[in-house]
Amino acid sequence: MDLKNEWLDGVKTAREKAYTPYSNFKVGAFLIAKDGTTFDGCNVENAAYGDCICAERTALVSAIAQGYKPGDFEALVVTTDTPTPSSPCGSCRQVIKELCNDEMPVYLTNIKGDVIKRTVDDLLPLGFSGRDLEDVK
Ligand code: THU
Repeated sequence: MDLKNEWLDGVKTAREKAYTPYSNFKVGAFLIAKDGTTFDGCNVENAAYGDCICAERTALVSAIAQGYKPGDFEALVVTTDTPTPSSPCGSCRQVIKELCNDEMPVYLTNIKGDVIKRTVDDLLPLGFSGRDLEDVK
């Protein structure tokens, strides 16, 4: 489905919740389930820097914790306040791959309105996921 204005509003609101005392780099994520339910994600940092959690993963983990299953999602929107949209880190790409279908759109955006559309497969081509374990005997 094409990017909707309400999703752009949603991702900006999600970004405002980011807890970023160390980097001050606020990221918003907005995950849309196929039933229309939406989940906010924001990065949540920690004084032990390695324990910082990205916005994309907070949105996905939140949805799973509320009972949603892999493949239940229609789109993911990410936003940063950068001159060009930034792109999910490697760890987030792996989690997106695990929980979202390969053809699902991921919209990379910035606050001033630039949009880059990619699929999950574009972000992690030839990736490994739970689907690869299904044929294990
Ligand atoms: N960050 C995200 O939230 N998503 C990404 O995909 C890249 C990085 C966060 C983690 C950290 O809080 C801050 O951005 C700087 O790396």
